[in-house]
Amino acid sequence: MKNLFILGNWKSNKTTAEAVLWQQSFVKNLPPVPEYITIILCPAFHHVPVFAHKSDAYVLGVQNISLFDAGAYTGEVAASMIKDDVTHVMIGHSERRKHFGETDEIVAQKVKRAVAAGITPIVCVSSTGQAKQLSVLAPEFTNSGLILYEPLFAIGSGKSDSPENANAAAGEIQQIFPSAPILYGGSVTHENVKGFTDQPYLSGVGVGGASLDPDKFLSLIRAVLS
Ligand code: PGA
Repeated sequence: MKNLFILGNWKSNKTTAEAVLWQQSFVKNLPPVPEYITIILCPAFHHVPVFAHKSDAYVLGVQNISLFDAGAYTGEVAASMIKDDVTHVMIGHSERRKHFGETDEIVAQKVKRAVAAGITPIVCVSSTGQAKQLSVLAPEFTNSGLILYEPLFAIGSGKSDSPENANAAAGEIQQIFPSAPILYGGSVTHENVKGFTDQPYLSGVGVGGASLDPDKFLSLIRAVLS
C-alpha cells in the first residue's frame, strides 16, 4: 500500500472557538486510520494552539511562513518560531502567488527557511513549469518535501480536474522530483476523492472547502478508506 496524505487547508477561515469545536468533533468521530495514511491539518496560525500536541490522529501544518528568519519583520511568523508546534508548512499556494505576489524565487526562499527549521515543505504548484523552477531554485526541496498540484480552474470552483489528467500532470512532476509524494488539489470532495487516490502517481489530496466542516472531511476520509 502506498503512503497517502490527506491535507486539509482551511485558508482564511474560523475563529478560535470554531476551531476548538471542529477539533473535538473530528478527533471524536475519526475512524481508525491505517499507518499508510497521514492526515495533515493546515488551519490558520492562531489555531495552532488548538491543534498542536493534542492528538496523534493528525499532524499539523500551517499555510505560509515568513520569507525571513525571526527578527524585526512585523506581522510575520518565522519557521524557527513554530518549529516545535508544526511538522509541515504549505508554501506558494496559488492564492499567495496571486494576492501576495509570491514568485518562484520567494517560494524557493521559503522552502529553504522551512528545511533549515526542520519543517517539511508542501509546495503548491499549478503547472509543471513551477515544479521545474522549484527544482532549479531550491535544490534543498528534492529530498525533503511534498508537492501539492492544483490546477487553477479547479480551486474552489466545484469543477475538479479529471483523475486521469491529474495523474498525467503528477507523472510529469514525478520525473522532476522522483521521491516526492505528489498530491492533487482542487474541488476534492467525498464523492470524487477515491478517483484521485487510486491514481498511480498521486499520493493523496489537498482539500480546501470540504475540510471546513468536520463531518464532510470525515466522509472524505472514510471514502479513502473504503
Ligand atoms: P478547494 O481548495 O478544495 O476549495 O478547491 C483547494 C485548495 O486550494 O487547496
